[in-house]
Amino acid sequence: MFKKPVIVFEGIEGSGKTHHIRNISTYLKKKKIDFIHIREPGGNINSEKIRKLILNRKTNFNEITDFLLYMASRNENIKMLKKFYKKKIILIDRFTDSTIAYQHYGFGVDLKLINYINRFLLKNFKVDYTFLNIVNKTNMIKRLQDRKKLNRYDQFSYKFYDKVQKGFLKLARKNKKKYKIINSNLDISYNQKLIIEYLNKII
Ligand code: TMP
Repeated sequence: MFKKPVIVFEGIEGSGKTHHIRNISTYLKKKKIDFIHIREPGGNINSEKIRKLILNRKTNFNEITDFLLYMASRNENIKMLKKFYKKKIILIDRFTDSTIAYQHYGFGVDLKLINYINRFLLKNFKVDYTFLNIVNKTNMIKRLQDRKKLNRYDQFSYKFYDKVQKGFLKLARKNKKKYKIINSNLDISYNQKLIIEYLNKII
């Protein structure tokens, strides 16, 4: 049980995290529980501009430029996140773990640098709980094929996403009390129930 927790949904492409965070939003609205919901990269006018720049298929920035832009996008959210910190439940679709999983485990960006900038940006703002959604190769590929539009980060090799997912799992295993791993290869309505059950334990 946390006071107005910060809850993050993480996972690679096709892991169902956006579906589940939306489902939770609907649930909280029905219950008339106050919350805010943002995504990263993105979340407000300025960071959505940065999102477009990074994810545009014509972009070919190198991995450090991408990293700095993800951080710039986060920086544009910090003021608002701090304003509501511990005043409202905060739901975030991807956050600092995505930076570690994609930029460090995926692209090899120095972990100390990532941690340093995250600490500089976040100060006392802390994530309370993370739902990590995992998906197998077949389902990931199928779900990406079903998407009408693919962005620049939807088009890497499976080997890349596998490294990223293993990175997410490393983070989750280091701090088991703060993570719930959701096996998104299982039935979606089963997972919806499971997540709501956990949500009710932590809010
Ligand atoms: P989305 O499509 O789930 O909104 O995510 C967009 C992409 O951004 C996704 O491929 C993961 C990537 N990403 C990073 O590489 N680093 C980060 O810090 C964040 C927040 C996202």
